[in-house]
Amino acid sequence: MRRSFDLMRWVAAMAAVMLAGGALRSRAADRPALPAGIPALPPPYATWPHVDSAIPKDPALEARIAQIVAGMTLEEKVGQMTQPDAHLISPADVRKYHIGTVLSGGGGWPNGDKRAPASAWLAMADALWDASMSTDSKVKIPILWGIDAVHGHARPFGTTVFPHHIGLGAAHDPDLVRRLAAATAAQMRVTGHDWTFSPCVAVVRDDRWGRTYESWSEDPAIVRAYAAAEVAGLQNLTATPDGKKPYGVLATAKHFLGDGGTAKGSDQGPNLAPEAELINIHGQGYYGAIGAGVQTVMPSFNSWLDPKKGIGASPAAMAEGKIHGSKYLISDVLEGKLGFDGFVVSDWKGENQVPGCTTTRCARAINAGIDVMMVADEWKGFYEDTIALVKKGEIPMARIDDAVTRILRVKLRMGLFDMPKPSQRPGAKDAARLQAKALAAEAVQKSLVLLKNDGHVLPLKPAGKILVVGKSANSVGNQTGGWTLTWQGDQNVNDDFPGASTVLAGVKRLVGDQHVTYSERGDGVSPADFDAVVAVIGETPYVEFTGDLMPGNPNVRGARRTMEHAVLYPEDLAVLDKVSGKGKPVVTVFISGRPLYTNKELNRSSAFVAAWLPGTEAGAIADVLFAEADGKPRKDFSGKLSFSWPKADCQQPLNAGDASYDPLFPFGFGQSYAAAGAPDLGKLPEPASLKCD
Ligand code: BGC
Ligand code: BGC
Repeated sequence: MRRSFDLMRWVAAMAAVMLAGGALRSRAADRPALPAGIPALPPPYATWPHVDSAIPKDPALEARIAQIVAGMTLEEKVGQMTQPDAHLISPADVRKYHIGTVLSGGGGWPNGDKRAPASAWLAMADALWDASMSTDSKVKIPILWGIDAVHGHARPFGTTVFPHHIGLGAAHDPDLVRRLAAATAAQMRVTGHDWTFSPCVAVVRDDRWGRTYESWSEDPAIVRAYAAAEVAGLQNLTATPDGKKPYGVLATAKHFLGDGGTAKGSDQGPNLAPEAELINIHGQGYYGAIGAGVQTVMPSFNSWLDPKKGIGASPAAMAEGKIHGSKYLISDVLEGKLGFDGFVVSDWKGENQVPGCTTTRCARAINAGIDVMMVADEWKGFYEDTIALVKKGEIPMARIDDAVTRILRVKLRMGLFDMPKPSQRPGAKDAARLQAKALAAEAVQKSLVLLKNDGHVLPLKPAGKILVVGKSANSVGNQTGGWTLTWQGDQNVNDDFPGASTVLAGVKRLVGDQHVTYSERGDGVSPADFDAVVAVIGETPYVEFTGDLMPGNPNVRGARRTMEHAVLYPEDLAVLDKVSGKGKPVVTVFISGRPLYTNKELNRSSAFVAAWLPGTEAGAIADVLFAEADGKPRKDFSGKLSFSWPKADCQQPLNAGDASYDPLFPFGFGQSYAAAGAPDLGKLPEPASLKCD
């Protein structure tokens, strides 16, 4: 049974290898011109480079670790390696099983309450910490609590939510990324979390992937620079207990390796790139992150198949193909060649995709080099099965000791052993630190990319009457996207975000409530009665596989694979049809997690702004759209595309440096008021839909 399943999986993967053929082979050597602010990459590497970490090995610390490990029982060691969901384990069990880390998965809140206050999270942090510090082990080892704070600390209620990575990519401002990360760390200290599963350093090469918005760019130079900046901002491993230098939080570089390069952008699918492409495209974020001292790395759900190396060349060799089972990539490359000496945390039950494994029983993943297993609700089975596997000799004791050494190294380096309980740490209980509105607004404005401004309709005058339309104009849920309060982020309503501002609110703030009319669908209003129309349209929230643009997914409303926005979201085209061509300028603000094929929407707009997923401060967009009373811009557009924009459906992969690169808007494109010379875009062709592969 198991074997035939493995065989089917192998046949499917090999079919993908053959179908994708050379299409994914972009040439690492053809480097696009980078927007100002992003340092160029060094010349391409012939092989994996060694990376010097900002946090060198400390012999005194290593001696202390060895001493602690020598005094630990097998049970205590496996407890350190087991990661339950914090919401599915009691403090009594944390104590009993010597649990080393816990996570808040996509849907976990204190008491199951999505709107739980920060104080409830902090009380939970204290309870977990107390449990870990009252075990019967010789040396008490404080627990770590991880969460997906991937665009600010967006999972707890009432925080300022920052733009997703894709928007920040357009800002080409590593220092902004560092400041946002430091603000995220400050938010996390209020709820007692010490560890975020961020940054995602994927270099996304096929935008049909549902996680494209978690990526900064198709260009590895941006990803490398930003990875270093985010890690530096999140972690502050030289904190002092008196709080003069605040504690940082642990960062995680994910998902190692090649998550952004799977065939056709399929989530968790096979990456078929030659090794040189892993080294020079997908690896670059890790060089930035490790160099800045990142202490944890998460392997990816995807596989890497290289028949030349024998990886994936047969059903048996598929186990090595799934990265959770790849000793080559985790032990030999990441830890050996790159020199990463922190710990490796699995992705959510990722080991159960390794042929021959279940979530609880997977010697192969541990032997490949995974140190902490994110097993969530299956923590007890994992704990018991792993102890049994060690006793049977399937996992060598030396591997267990290496894993625990790495975990302790990270905990000691971050000063965890010297910290008081979470509520006593500097910055805890200070709810004001959950807010960072001015910083978020700066990030929103810098991420905007002006793609079209025909007839210089922008900036709009702040006088007169403005009609606002579109489903996303007053939807905090749509503007914050996935990984917000919940995993999918799709059921959130405006009341879930006290103090947030929408594009509609921003327009009202500048133009005056009484001069603004909002009609979501454009019904019952006549554009002729207004001076201008602002349409806010775009994608609705999704994560991981639910966002893949392939048939059968909830987000793909046609039965075919498409990236044509008019097919995916016909309601947006309908609303534009109601307001365009009526003699009044239509300014479209496009809220999305990726570039899409939007010729029809562009043709129905005088101006078109890519706003990505701006977070809770989308109202700040209005300050860039509207002029001062004297007609001068308040704020200019400075964003430049960090992803190429397609001119046709199915135009993927599409990346700067491709042999036949022919985008609608190239990588690095973005208009501004200052450089007003851009010619009008005019009417674009609207080619009939294609049949995509
Ligand atoms: C995702 C990771 C995430 C983890 C924890 C997984 O499904 O792939 O990016 O950190 O869940 O929520
Ligand atoms: C969990 C997430 C996880 C996802 C993986 C969800 O049920 O809450 O944390 O990322 O499953 O598929």
